[in-house]
Amino acid sequence: LAMTCWGVIGGSGLQEIDGLVVDRAERVETPFGSPSSELVFGQLNGVEVVFLPRHGHPHTIPPHKVNYRANIWALKQVGVDFIVAVAAVGGIHQNTGPGVIVIPEQLIDYSYGRAHTFFEDNLDAVTHIDFSNPYEETLRQSILLAAKEASVPVLASGCYGVTQGPRLETAKEIDRMEQDGCSLVGMTGMPEAGLARELGLAYASVSVVANYAAGRGDGEITMAEIEVNLVGGMAQVCLLLGALLGSSQ
Ligand code: HPA
Repeated sequence: LAMTCWGVIGGSGLQEIDGLVVDRAERVETPFGSPSSELVFGQLNGVEVVFLPRHGHPHTIPPHKVNYRANIWALKQVGVDFIVAVAAVGGIHQNTGPGVIVIPEQLIDYSYGRAHTFFEDNLDAVTHIDFSNPYEETLRQSILLAAKEASVPVLASGCYGVTQGPRLETAKEIDRMEQDGCSLVGMTGMPEAGLARELGLAYASVSVVANYAAGRGDGEITMAEIEVNLVGGMAQVCLLLGALLGSSQ
C-alpha cells in the first residue's frame, strides 16, 4: 500500500494545480465535520499528492467559515505528512508588491472565534505544543531550494499576520501590524498552521501577494485587482510545486 505523503492546500486563485494528473476525488469525513471539498488524489511530476482547496470548489467558503480542523484532520487521516499551504495575501512592505511570492518563517495570529485546537474534550492531559517556529524549517528550506531549481523568485522570509476578515483591514490596522513585525497580511494562516503542528504534520506556507495592503497602494483594493494579480503568481507556484515534489523522489 503506497503511503501518500504530500498535501497541498490551495488558497484563493489556486482551485487546481497545473500539471496535476488526477486519479480520483474522495469525500472524507472527520470527527470535526467535513473538509472544504473532496480530497483530490493525483500525481505531480510522478509523485503522489493530495490537494484540498481551502475555500471549496467552487470557491464559496469565506476565511472565517473554513473548517480548518476538518481540513487538517482529513489530510492526516489519508496519510499526509507534509503540507504546503498556498495562500493569497496582502503585502505590507514595499518589497512585497503584487505577484511577489513569500515563504514566511513567522506569523502573528489576530484572528478570533475560530475552532482552533484539537485539544478540547476527553483529554488525558493538558497539552501545550511548542510553536516558537510555526513553520517547519526543513520543509521551508526544501521549498526555497525548489524555487531556485524552478527559477521562481521568492522571498525567503516574512511574517504573516492573520486577520479575521472577511473585510480587509484599515490603513491604521496595517500600520500597527507593521510595527508588530508583519510583512504580509492574510486571513487563513491560522488556525491552520497550529492545527497541523498539533497533529505533528510538517507545514509551511507559500504566500502569494495579491495586492498592497490597505493604505500601502493607490486607492481602494478591489477583488478584480486581487484576482488579476493572482493569476501570474499562482502559475509560478505550480512550477515551484512541481520542482518540490520532483526533488522528493
Ligand atoms: N488583507 C487580508 N487578506 C488578504 C489581503 C489583504 O489585503 N489580500 C489577500 N488576502
